[in-house]
Amino acid sequence: MKNICKVLSISCLLSLSLSAYSQQQAYEFSLDTKKVGAPIKSTMYGLFFEDINFAADGGLYAELVKNRSFDFPQNLMGWNTFGKVEVRKDNPLFDQNPTYIVLSNPEHPHKRTGIENEGFRGMGFKQNEAYRFSVWAKTENSNEPQKIRIDLLDAKNDILVTQYLEINSSDWRKYEVNLTPKATEPKGRLRIFLDSKGSVALEHVSLFPVNTWKGRENGLRADLAQALADIKPGVFRFPGGCIVEGTDLDTRYDWKKTVGAVENRPVNENRWHYTFPHRFFPDYYQSYGLGFYEYFLLSEDMGAEPLPVLSCGLSCQYQNEKEECHVPVKDLGSYIQDALDLIEFANGLPTSTWGKVRADMGHPAPFNLKYIGIGNEQWGEEYIVRLEPFVKEIRAKYPDIKIIGSSGPSADGDKFDYLWPEMKRLKVDLVDEHYYKDPKWFLNSAKRYDNYDRKGPAVFAGEYACHVPNRDNNFESALYEAAFMTGLERNADIVHMCTYAPLLAHVDAWQWKPDMIWFDNLTSVKTPNYYVQQLYAKNKGTHVMSVTRNNTSISGEDDLYASAVYDKDENCYIVKIANTGKSSKEINITLTGLKKNSSLSLGESFELKANNLNIVNTLESPMNIIPQKATAKIEGNILVASVKPESFSVYKIQQ
Ligand code: AHR
Repeated sequence: MKNICKVLSISCLLSLSLSAYSQQQAYEFSLDTKKVGAPIKSTMYGLFFEDINFAADGGLYAELVKNRSFDFPQNLMGWNTFGKVEVRKDNPLFDQNPTYIVLSNPEHPHKRTGIENEGFRGMGFKQNEAYRFSVWAKTENSNEPQKIRIDLLDAKNDILVTQYLEINSSDWRKYEVNLTPKATEPKGRLRIFLDSKGSVALEHVSLFPVNTWKGRENGLRADLAQALADIKPGVFRFPGGCIVEGTDLDTRYDWKKTVGAVENRPVNENRWHYTFPHRFFPDYYQSYGLGFYEYFLLSEDMGAEPLPVLSCGLSCQYQNEKEECHVPVKDLGSYIQDALDLIEFANGLPTSTWGKVRADMGHPAPFNLKYIGIGNEQWGEEYIVRLEPFVKEIRAKYPDIKIIGSSGPSADGDKFDYLWPEMKRLKVDLVDEHYYKDPKWFLNSAKRYDNYDRKGPAVFAGEYACHVPNRDNNFESALYEAAFMTGLERNADIVHMCTYAPLLAHVDAWQWKPDMIWFDNLTSVKTPNYYVQQLYAKNKGTHVMSVTRNNTSISGEDDLYASAVYDKDENCYIVKIANTGKSSKEINITLTGLKKNSSLSLGESFELKANNLNIVNTLESPMNIIPQKATAKIEGNILVASVKPESFSVYKIQQ
């Protein structure tokens, strides 16, 4: 008996000391519910879109035909021709896209005339889905009706579907027919035969899936647009990036060329076609089919604030060192007018000049634009002297529009240090910061905004991504972004927007990586970085809460990073924890200051985790890393969680 008691007391002592040990091991976090912090802007988590990596033409923009108007400088780029095909520009139908082609009788009963389009690294066709073929056409040199035959082909040259169109007028008219391929093909082609004895002129040859996002004719690829919308972005920045500036002034993004009839939007060179000689894409142009109207519409559809960025009159400063490459300050008038006209295009009455353009395109209601960016990654005095008149004139005419200025291409250094005080002096509303940095920087920068000046402009973290050398979009990069973002969220009183970059990349035609979503012609894959953005955006709450350990913010000590928010609409607290260490962490989060009788429960909680930091999601295996349900216990006013090694968790505590 004595012995049994001895054994029991030893084991009691052992378990007591073990529990004391494990209690010692638990990390005690505290969240004072009485201290509700700054409101979180609806724009806090958003999207940055740039036509890089074939993100627009060949990507989000659902058009399948490359060089549809034959107006690339090499008029037949993307096309194979056979028989008698002539390139013409006389008496054009569309003055800004003047080129068209004429197919004529090859003058031998066994020969054929026609053209084939290769698409953007092929065309993706889905079995039993309809594709809308359209073309502007007329008979040439006679009133005799002519016939064309349209085939969709697979990669082996087999025909997936055929249709015919009769061209029955010598005046330009638009003809349309739907084609439904009998099989799915990722690398298809479009072929058009002249199928009669005369001649026919063709212009703006187009092929769209009927099933675009929201079913729009000049629409977006459904899976990609849905992936963007599923993030629930609060802001949508467009059209870039460096393409705003252009390699030279001629190739800058000129929004006025991107609105109105789609057939008459002139082709522009895409600067990413030659930016990197080791990733050279000579067939990369902007059709502007996805233009400013479409960007505004997409923002509206996603419930995101539109944020256009315009040229400030400086062409890319990396590539243009001489002053004469830029617009002289005295000649900035038309550039400033572009900004004022854009605000009118977005918000003006349908009776105003630019409001009418919007209304005629199908949107009489305003888009309710609130923000405008002037300049992308600009720097130096040459930027300031240009930005200043923009600010003056925009403020004078549209005092409510918030203006975003740049802090240059990097997160620190001379350019950055010069620009921030200048931004304060010019009283811009937000300053755009960019950081493409290594893991160490991301982990060390979670406190970046803790001591930022609260009296000046707010921060727009407009482009950022963790670049792990030689490892693309792996879980490591996503985890470190998640850790860093706790610092953005904790400082949401000053950080009003953040957008990961770049957004989209075609697996066969990318120039820059990592990127948030990868795609081929048929499918797409969301990276772990996507899921981090989505977890933040869908759990952004309405107010910052302070979650602390030993009265200090949790931003790296013992590999732990944390932030918390209150969501007044759902009456819940949301705590985000990144554990970048190799061991799991027992964490108790004590909620103090709760109302008497309040009872807490665990709401929908998630964790993002991989067995190995190098794991990626791929087109073939897109679900390697996806948010999983996280478990935790609520004990009274304490959330008790076991946070896995190298994981990012989001806990919702419901009241
Ligand atoms: O996101 C890719 C590029 O990075 C952007 O175009 C530019 O702003 C930055 O340098």
